[in-house]
This record gives sequence, C-alpha cells and structure tokens, in this order.
Amino acid sequence: MLKSSPFLRLLGHVTPHRAVLVLAVVLMVAESAIALAHPWLASRFAGLVLDGADSLRADLIALMVLWAFLLAAQGVLSFGNRYLLGSTGETMLAGLRTRLYDHLQSLPLDYFHQRRRGEVLALLGNDAERISNFVTSTLVGLLPLLVTFFGAFVLMFRISPEIALLALVLVPLFFLAMKLIGRRLRPLSSQWIREHARMFATLEENIGMLPAIKSFTRERLESDRFEESNRSLMRIAKRQLLVESVLSPAVQLFAGLGLLALLFLAAVQLEVGRLQPEDLIAVLLYAMLMTRPISGLAGVYGSVQTARGAAERLIEAFAAAPEPDDHGAGELGPVSGAIRFEGVSFAYPTGPRVLDKLDLHIRAGETVAITGENGSGKSTLIHLLMRFADPAAGRILIDGTDIQSVRIVSLRRHIGLVAQNVLLLNGSVRENIAYGAPGADPDAIEQAARAAQAHDFICRLPNGYDTVIGDQGIRLSGGQRQRLSLARALLKDPPILVLDEATSMFDPSGELAFLEECREVLASRTVIVITHRPASLALADRVVKMVGGRVQEASAAAV
Ligand SMILES: Nc1ncnc2c1ncn2[C@@H]1O[C@H](COP(=O)(O)OP(=O)(O)OP(=O)(O)O)[C@@H](O)[C@H]1O
Ligand SMILES: [Mg+2]
Repeated sequence: MLKSSPFLRLLGHVTPHRAVLVLAVVLMVAESAIALAHPWLASRFAGLVLDGADSLRADLIALMVLWAFLLAAQGVLSFGNRYLLGSTGETMLAGLRTRLYDHLQSLPLDYFHQRRRGEVLALLGNDAERISNFVTSTLVGLLPLLVTFFGAFVLMFRISPEIALLALVLVPLFFLAMKLIGRRLRPLSSQWIREHARMFATLEENIGMLPAIKSFTRERLESDRFEESNRSLMRIAKRQLLVESVLSPAVQLFAGLGLLALLFLAAVQLEVGRLQPEDLIAVLLYAMLMTRPISGLAGVYGSVQTARGAAERLIEAFAAAPEPDDHGAGELGPVSGAIRFEGVSFAYPTGPRVLDKLDLHIRAGETVAITGENGSGKSTLIHLLMRFADPAAGRILIDGTDIQSVRIVSLRRHIGLVAQNVLLLNGSVRENIAYGAPGADPDAIEQAARAAQAHDFICRLPNGYDTVIGDQGIRLSGGQRQRLSLARALLKDPPILVLDEATSMFDPSGELAFLEECREVLASRTVIVITHRPASLALADRVVKMVGGRVQEASAAAV
C-alpha cells in the first residue's frame, strides 16, 4: 500500500507543509548525528583515562566541555523538532479535517443514505488523526533512524570491519522475525477501526432513538447489542495488544542477543590484538546505538499497518463523486417561477421506479396542490426539483431553462423548501429562522414568524427569540418546530415556495390563520403545496394527484 498511488495521493492531500517537515527532518538528522558522536567521545575519554592521565589535564577538560556542549545542542535540537512536528501535526490535522468536511458536504445526499452516520463521523475523528500521526511521527522519523543506523555502521566499520559486517548480517534476520510476529497487526487494526466505527454508529443512533427505546422498553436489548459491539472491540484491542506486547520484548531480546554476538567477536579480536581496549567501549556503544533505529523501525512497521486501514477509508471517502459538476454552468437569473416536468422518470439506486414519464406544468404564480398516497413519490418530485438527485430520463425546466444547465446553488436559491422532515439547529429561535438569510434584520424575522403563526408562541418562550431550542428543536412541540421551519422558508422570500406537508401538525385554527395571513404572500409566487389537508387544498388554484408515478388532474373536492 505504501507504494500504491492512492496512498501516496492521500499523503499528498495531508502534507501541504512540506517545508516545515523538511526542516524537522533536518533537525532530527542533526540530532542523530550528534548522538553518533557519543561513542567516539566515550572511547576518547576511556583512552585518556586508561593512559593514566591526571584528571585535570587540559585535553581531558576540553573533551568534557565539548561533550557537555553537544549534550546541550542535542537538547535544543530535540526541543525544536518536537515542537515543530507537534504543531505541524495539529495544522495538518485541522487542514485534513476541513478538506474532508468540505468534501463530505459536497457529496450527494445519497452517499449519506447508504451509510451509517457514525461511520462518517469516524472518518473525521479517528481516521484523520491516525493519518496525521503517521506522517508526523512515523514517516518523518524514518530518515533520522536510517542516519543513526548507517552512521553507527560506518563509524563501527572504521574501528572493526568484521564486527560492523556481523551487525549488518544480523539485521535482515531480525526483520524477518519481526515480520513474522507483526503480520497479524494489519488485519487486526482494520478490524478494530471497523468495529470502533460500528460501536459509535450504534451509540449515535441509540441516543437519537432513546424515546423509542424507552417507550418500547428495549433497554435490555439495546444494552446487549451495545455490549456485544463493545466486547468485540475490546477483544480485538487485546489481541492487538498481545501482538504488540510480544513484538517489543522480542525486538529487544533479538537485539540483545545480537549485541552479545558482537561482544564475543570483539573479545576474540581483542585477544588477537586487532582491537584496542578503548575501542571496545566505542564498539559496544555503536552497537547499542544501532539497536535503537532497529526497534524504531519495528514501530514504523506496526504503524504503517495501522495507518493503512484508516487510509483505505479516507481514500474511499475522497474518491466519492461530489454533486454533479456544474463548473462553468450559467447562473439561473431572476425567474417568474414557471415549472415544467417533462417525461421525468426516476428510481432510487436501491429501489423500484418511483416516477414514470411524469409530466406536470405549473404556471408562474400558480398555487398547485399535490396529493397522493404515502410513498407515491411527492417528496421525490421535489428532491428532483432541488437537484438532490437527477432524473434517469426527462427534464425539469424553470422559466424554460433546464435546471441541469445552471449552477446548483443558483437553482436552490430560487426555491424555498419546507421539507417534510423538519431539520433545526441547536441554536436560538432567531438563528433558526434566519438560517437561510444570515444577517436578516429583526423586523423581517418577526414578520416571517408572524406569517408562519409562530410569533405568539415564540413570545411566550423564556427568552423569546433568543431561546435556545435544543438538538433538532427538541424543546419545542412538533407543530412549533414546523412553524419555525415555515418561517425560515418565508424569510428567504423565494419566487418558488414548496410546502411539503408544511402544516400537517398545525392545529386547524392555526392552519386557517396561516392560510389567511399568507394569501398575499402566496399569491405573489409559485407555490407547490404537498398536502392531504382540505384547508390547504382549498387554497390551491389546481389540485393534482400522484398515481403510479404520474400525475392526474383532480379537483379539491375529489380528493
Ligand atoms: N432515500 C431513498 N432511498 C430509497 N428509496 C427511497 C428513498 N426515499 C424514498 N424512497 C422510496 O421512494 C418512494 C417515494 O417516496 P416519497 O418520499 O417520494 O413518497 P411521498 O409521496 O412523499 O410519501 P409521503 O406521503 O409518505 O410523504 C417510496 O416508495 C420510498 O420507499
Ligand atoms: Mg413525502
């Protein structure tokens, strides 16, 4: 995977701070180079002391001062690269999250309909962090490890080629052993990521479902379901831990045994006079220095395996195609609001045909009511008008312009949709009404709220327009939520207004008051009202009914 291009492309995505990373690598390499000086200093020191030198001799003092200086330099370099890497890691993570968020937001709704929300959240949480850690701690640390290793090798070679070559021969054996033990890590880590995402998806869903869990007394069942997922996550984590726990001491054991072999060879060489006693210290310290990058590389191996799972999921997410590319398409200018559906057919990816060569012409300024059985495709028709999806055949025109030929945002700006499922922010009433018109003045907000029959109840809330309404407006009643959603669409003041069961939860007097209040507001634009309610039907210039994926003209009295 490290060699395959999607992984490299992903790294390209997440590493826009190459200059800083290169600087960090340079600092780390300098730090490693200084570390290589210690064995040499130690052997010089031993040489001087074994010579029987006076402890206040000038060259001994000079050596100690140099040593102290190098230690200090090492400390400063270590601080520099730690901070540099840490802060670059944070910047990189933030950048990756932004890119990922923007990308996710650009994807068609269907992407989210096919996935659990918890899985999408895990991309932004877990996976993004793993990849950024991989770059800053693993990838960047690779070069200094190699510098330490080969530096130690070359310096050892100068003292004793035989010992250095023996060390080099031991390395491949060492990696073979490590690979044998560590090869279980990768499947475990992808399993862990999948299971972790699954657990959070269940958790996220259950919190939203809590009222249903309680009312259907499913607490026990849901606890068991969560527990099962939780336990399976724990089992995978423990298996991972086992492999990792074996890997690290095994690495040390092999390194230690290798060291003993080198020492034995050194003893032989000392005996035949090919090695000086003070060289023995340098050889020993270089050999120990060589084991450090080797165990470091074992860590690299483990973390490549773990990063791969996260990388695969991120690559898949980035590969998903955003909403149709409308780059270079024209803007939909001011419209009078004539809408034509011409031979429109549509099926969801997973289901049968919902719309079948549907024709519907709506004049500018007309109010058309659409009725039809549940599941007959009324909301789907609106989704196509908003371009949440595109028809398989046929086309949709606004003022004679095919909506597929204009920029999607310019199309959506002309349509005010009160969707069947009310979606609200956990913010104040004011923020919610002004969602589609940020910066709207308080008078306009109040006017929209009055038209949607929401002003009176808002005034009775503890903080009026500044009352915070909770997740999805949980602290409001169903009808109140619907009124806010209606006010939000009215404030946008679009030439085309679509009310998908927008007053279904209104009390009858509230609905009549709304229709009365809005007669003028509605008369000045094109309105599509999806409804089963007689009062709303009576408001319409024309009533059509959806049957078998098409529309039939009907009169208000007939439905
Ligand atoms: N995201 C989806 N993926 C797959 N099938 C879907 C999806 N949304 C709706 N459907 C299917 O499309 C059909 C039409 O659904 P739609 O929501 O348009 O009906 P509707 O007329 O608005 O019904 P209602 O009166 O209940 O609001 C239904 O049979 C439904 O099962
Ligand atoms: Mg519907």
